[in-house]
Amino acid sequence: MDPNSASGKIAQMLTGYWVSQMVHVAAKLDLAGLLKDGPRTADDLAQKTGTHPRSLYRLLRGLASLGIFAETDPKLFSMTPLSEALLDGVPGSQRAMAMMSGDEHYASWSELLYCVKTGKTGFEMRFGMLPFDYLSKHPEPAKIFDAAMTSVHGTESPAMLAAYDFAGIGVLADVGGGNGSLITLTLQKHAKLKGILYDLPHVIERSRSNIAVAGLADRCQCVAGSFFEKVPEGADAYLMRHIIHDWDDAESIAILKNCRRAMGANREARLLILETVIPPGNDPMFGKLLDLNMLVIPGGLERTEAKYRELFAAAGFRLNRIVPTTTEVSLIEGFPID
Ligand SMILES: C[S@@+](CC[C@H](N)C(=O)[O-])C[C@H]1O[C@@H](n2cnc3c(N)ncnc32)[C@H](O)[C@@H]1O
Repeated sequence: MDPNSASGKIAQMLTGYWVSQMVHVAAKLDLAGLLKDGPRTADDLAQKTGTHPRSLYRLLRGLASLGIFAETDPKLFSMTPLSEALLDGVPGSQRAMAMMSGDEHYASWSELLYCVKTGKTGFEMRFGMLPFDYLSKHPEPAKIFDAAMTSVHGTESPAMLAAYDFAGIGVLADVGGGNGSLITLTLQKHAKLKGILYDLPHVIERSRSNIAVAGLADRCQCVAGSFFEKVPEGADAYLMRHIIHDWDDAESIAILKNCRRAMGANREARLLILETVIPPGNDPMFGKLLDLNMLVIPGGLERTEAKYRELFAAAGFRLNRIVPTTTEVSLIEGFPID
């Protein structure tokens, strides 16, 4: 079939999940980690990973056909530029994302038709609870989720810092700040800035050590709690990256109202939301696919500028401006109305 024909293109899309599962299994078995110090045979890798040698060889051959690993001699595999991205701890590592997306997320996506028919999430259908409740009860997937946030959103941090001037801010709260990577980078860039990292208790338990390892324990308070109950007071700016897109309108307004409450009488306090703002039109955009992931997994959505204006107004904020970054996300800045 001509790969450039309509049928060829659709056929390629239909096998997309074969590829994503292959990459997922490579990440789960940490094949890149095993190959990083030099080539190994498929049999050796099978022994190290406790897998079926002939089947593992077939997986490696398939991956090599996509440029992930190379068969340099019969049954001998080595790293390639693409497989480097499956290593842990390298800039832009996709290992955690590959591990996460192939497990619970993959199972949830198989319920897409149910989601489209009902507007409910595939995750809850499959796992009987919403993802953040699930993560609080499952420590291993929770650790992978934290790391996956850096896999998928890591490049946005320097882009945000280049696009927005944090210089006038004394204390910045990162609400739902997860593993702390964004507040860490922000505090490292702005030496006078103080930070508050706020997230659920099980997340803060893990993130506290990340802040300490970065040498920021004296400049960044780690606070545990739920943003549906309260948001810490005393910050000049409340930053939320990929928080509002996790929630429906009523829940988003509740979170924003808690930020407004935390600001008290400080009319200069800023609300900073880092999200994709969906433009009109048909142009390709990762955010339009991420929007479906929000439908399937947490039950949230990506929004248009008009929708953000509505949410801000309903929670007592004026949307002041939208600052684009070199990535798909923009910083949506708001100030208290009253
Ligand atoms: C999509 S992640 C984004 C994490 C981080 N802001 C980032 O961009 O890497 C959503 C975050 O919201 C946190 N979260 C979920 N429910 C929460 C709640 N009720 N209160 C505080 N944080 C919550 C999660 O633990 C998670 O860290």
